[in-house]
Amino acid sequence: MIRWGAMSGTPHGLARGLTNYGDADFSLYLRRSFAKSMGYSKEMLARPVVGIAQSASGFNNCHRHFPELLDAVKRGVLAAGGLPIDFPTISLGEVFLSPTSMMFRNLMAIDVEEMIRAQPMDAVVLLGGCDKTVPAQLMGAASADVPAIQLLAGPMLPMSFHGERLGACTDCRRFWAKYRAGGINATEIEEIEGNLATTAGTCAVMGTASTMAAIAEALGMALPGTAAIPAVHADRLRAAEATGKRAVALAAEDLRPSRIITERSVENALRVLLAIGGSTNAILHLTAVAGRAGVDISLARLNELSDATPVLVDLKPTGQHYMSDLNAAGGLGAILRELKPMLHLDCVTVTGETLGQRLDAEPGWVDRDVVRPLGDPYQKVGGLAALFGTLAPSGAIIKRSAADPALFEREGRAVVFTSLEDLATRIDTPDLDVTGDDFLVLQNAGPKSGYAMPEAGYLPIPAKLARSGVKDMVRMSDARMSGTAYGTIVLHISPEAAVGGPLALVRNGDRIKLSVSQRRLDLLVDDAELGRRRAAWKPPVTPPRRGYGKLYMDHVLQAEHGCDFDFLRKA
Ligand code: FES
Repeated sequence: MIRWGAMSGTPHGLARGLTNYGDADFSLYLRRSFAKSMGYSKEMLARPVVGIAQSASGFNNCHRHFPELLDAVKRGVLAAGGLPIDFPTISLGEVFLSPTSMMFRNLMAIDVEEMIRAQPMDAVVLLGGCDKTVPAQLMGAASADVPAIQLLAGPMLPMSFHGERLGACTDCRRFWAKYRAGGINATEIEEIEGNLATTAGTCAVMGTASTMAAIAEALGMALPGTAAIPAVHADRLRAAEATGKRAVALAAEDLRPSRIITERSVENALRVLLAIGGSTNAILHLTAVAGRAGVDISLARLNELSDATPVLVDLKPTGQHYMSDLNAAGGLGAILRELKPMLHLDCVTVTGETLGQRLDAEPGWVDRDVVRPLGDPYQKVGGLAALFGTLAPSGAIIKRSAADPALFEREGRAVVFTSLEDLATRIDTPDLDVTGDDFLVLQNAGPKSGYAMPEAGYLPIPAKLARSGVKDMVRMSDARMSGTAYGTIVLHISPEAAVGGPLALVRNGDRIKLSVSQRRLDLLVDDAELGRRRAAWKPPVTPPRRGYGKLYMDHVLQAEHGCDFDFLRKA
């Protein structure tokens, strides 16, 4: 039986948001008539409508099982007395988009928001998974503020190959680095290429997609225990059915994202991000999602939380295991139970219960090989740290859990690349003036660079150094880095070079000081010289004059604001 609770008296189901013909009765009559052309009965059309925003696409390998998940969601909605109606949105297949999926995250968020608002639905299921799709859906749903619940794609399974398990995409990078260093040949790398990503689902490690799945569950926007279930596991289909069922109840309770995504649940999500050694991209995405709910995330607060939140899981790229191992080890619930003393337990989730009620009711199984107790963590402090200084007045990020602590307190000589093309042209040239003690600096790869902040922050070790055995060195940029990558890499330097930030003023041979313990990143060049360089600086790109490219360049914000558009954040 459906209770309409807070919604009684307001139009629901197909009667919501009528098309405007100047006669509401005619609008509803016409809508029902056209809906009946799809074969629905009168009884079905009287049910509450659950929209299913689905992002399957031939250009998205991670979502290739969505037709099956969609069927299971519909089954759940029908069983609970609702009418499921799916609708397509933009899909963002990470490796199929140019210049980068990041450029289109906000476009997808607009699509999701506007289609939720424009179409008659009492609740919505958000069916997403690949890196940018989950934040885009959460951003759109938070702005539309219709009852919403997320169903995640689930991770790929790693597969055995020549005696070891391989999974996208930390192993992709590991073997590519080996190939670049001459450790394996062209035939071998081609064979590996066919064995890195072999099932449906998102990247198998704690990359951006897995981190965002954990964040969706920690925020309370996905059902408990669903973040880590492998894409091809039968439990994923059961989670889909349960999500559909719950969506009908969400509609009846009018439980909206604005009650779930709050300052306190965002802080819970930040704790989880730090405890899982999650992707640096996730701080951008969580900032953008929180911004849609009117919640600001300060990088100074990130540092406070990071210093008090240990890394509890041992997943690649920082550890040994894969997401499917985390699922078998107890899933996100096992991590949340360890973090319980640090969490805001009064936060409401999509179940209608609080986080505290969830954790009290959960069984206690945990595999300590994968999830450590709070008192005996893998690392005593959180995975991410924000840096500030003369090179990054508005901040920068380092994933210290994936970096070499021996490189944390250093002064080095800058070896500067002024663009991605410059990097590609010169990084492997034999006469590049570089040693393993230098700092590689990439400019003009931020949000307004024309490349839309690509995952280029994982600058390759110059070939001549890689061949001589150098495995890590300090690298820095205004770019992002894939969540599956690792190394002593400073990212998201803000303001970026393309808007004239101090990063734009760095020249070959400058001294730069990095101190992770002091949270500092400083350019050791005097003000007079910087003033001369600033006076000679010119913007590196001509902004596009039309289309989405213009909208993006006119409105995208810097990294500390999550790269959302200025007009989409909640005032
Ligand atoms: Fe989709 Fe990695 S490519 S999650």
